[in-house]
Amino acid sequence: MTGDARFDAVAAHRAADVVRRHLGTIDEPALAIVLGSGLGGLTGRIESATAIAFGDVPGFSAATVAGHAGRLIVGRLAGRPVVALAGRFHMYEGHPAEQAGFPIRVLHALGARTLFVSNAAGGINPAFTPGDLMIVTDHLNLMFRNPLVGRLVAGDVRFPDMSEPYDRALAALLREQGASLGIALREGVYCGLLGPTYETPAEVRMLRILGADAVGMSTVPEVVVARAIGMRVAGVSCITNLASGVSPTPLSHAEVIETTARVASQFESLVERFVAAL
Ligand code: HPA
Repeated sequence: MTGDARFDAVAAHRAADVVRRHLGTIDEPALAIVLGSGLGGLTGRIESATAIAFGDVPGFSAATVAGHAGRLIVGRLAGRPVVALAGRFHMYEGHPAEQAGFPIRVLHALGARTLFVSNAAGGINPAFTPGDLMIVTDHLNLMFRNPLVGRLVAGDVRFPDMSEPYDRALAALLREQGASLGIALREGVYCGLLGPTYETPAEVRMLRILGADAVGMSTVPEVVVARAIGMRVAGVSCITNLASGVSPTPLSHAEVIETTARVASQFESLVERFVAAL
């Protein structure tokens, strides 16, 4: 439950102070970036980068998932100040929803007002193929958890509006930059499930009926927190595999990591252009 003082706004400011003590003065970030499974390579393009391990940030714990480095990085991307998380906290690791959303409060406390989230996701839309990048236009929260449940955190809105969870102007910017790079970006609805099992074919048929284009196990708690504290959000899913039943083969995390490696440079160029155009 929120109301857990480990994950409230005061805790976020305390964590941000620890980050600043560790990394020195931080320019106000033009963008906060969350890098999903296998997408952490973007950090290699961050110049003058300094980093702190998740384990050293109060309220964070060390990342446990393969493909997640578990570091907070500060530096410049395309000449703009950014703060990036290589790794995140998933609820399937046993973290409560408010801890999954807590890093967003810390990024906000570090001065970020715009958030770019990324993830690896299974493709439900039959037009999608593995390796596609999808602009997230909306989401379905089928995690049946919400990081805002409980006592109202200072600075939060009690009933946040979710009519535009992913900012239309930022999506348009992604579209433009994708086109300029010659990347055929997809667009669609991301459905967040708790995991850690991948879906059954029947579940995927259900999700398709419900309007999902892609499915994954992250992102939703982060976006909910971001909207509650007034951050603008852009999101991109890397379609790493066809969802269960759509694909004739069993799913594996190895396939997810293989696909992200294949499209990493495209993804990185897109984010770089995006931040330059902000
Ligand atoms: N389902 C859920 N999460 C995922 C998938 C999937 O097919 N691929 C990558 N993350």
